[in-house]
Amino acid sequence: MENPALKFVFERRSIRRFKQKTVPRRLINRIVDAGQRAPTACGMQGYSLILVTDRKLREEVYKAIGKQKCMEEAPTWILVCADMARQLRLFETLGVKTKIEPLSKFIPAVVDAALVAENMVIAAEMFGLGSVFIGSVWAEMKRVADVFGLPKNVCPIVLVCIGYPDESPPTRPRWPREAVLHENKYKMPSKTLMKDYYEKANEQLVKMRYFPKSVHNWAEHWQRKFPPKEMKVWEAQLRKDLKALGFLP
Ligand SMILES: Cc1cc2nc3c(=O)[nH]c(=O)nc-3n(C[C@H](O)[C@H](O)[C@H](O)COP(=O)(O)O)c2cc1C
Repeated sequence: MENPALKFVFERRSIRRFKQKTVPRRLINRIVDAGQRAPTACGMQGYSLILVTDRKLREEVYKAIGKQKCMEEAPTWILVCADMARQLRLFETLGVKTKIEPLSKFIPAVVDAALVAENMVIAAEMFGLGSVFIGSVWAEMKRVADVFGLPKNVCPIVLVCIGYPDESPPTRPRWPREAVLHENKYKMPSKTLMKDYYEKANEQLVKMRYFPKSVHNWAEHWQRKFPPKEMKVWEAQLRKDLKALGFLP
């Protein structure tokens, strides 16, 4: 028989409607504790978490990156940041002589931050809470960093919105295992597999009304999200922000 704890992994899905019910601090603290148990590159724990309890700061974030309804509804916001500032300060204090270059700071810190975030949302599931990640902080990393007074070498990675679910959507589609699990050597899935997957996945998403009314299918959804011209602008913004934050040369 399968381990019942796996239920929390298999049943997790993004929740975008929340009850107006406060999440007790005790639970938030335990969610953070669970986040901290994630594996971490060289034990450095290259992340920081900002629990956003000041409503005025939410308004500042909306000004920077716009708002999504789920952000407004979620009672709890935890901004997950890649953070090498604390570790560099520790190195300095200990007299560890090193010069970690920007990308060597960025990769471990981003991976660490992502692992913390995922541990937190699984812990939230176990407390009967729901969550959604908000990646739109990537649109204005420096502005968001400024809202929360992040120093150099700390950069926002994802906003985790948590609360008591006010919806119960089905789980969203995933590639079949054979498309993502390669044995020994990489093998691009066949076009037939891709088409089969896409058609089934798209059908499920349309059925659960995942897209806004004006969007008819997943391809269209992605096309709208990633128009070439906007991608160029975003890339330039990302480079500028990451440079300012110390994560790009
Ligand atoms: C890094 C990251 C950023 C995301 N940003 C957003 C977002 O800004 N808004 C949103 O509604 N969902 C966001 N999501 C949630 C994804 O849309 C969602 O995980 C995906 O569609 C799969 O659905 P599921 O989580 O229900 O399995 C994000 C997820 C990740 C991992």
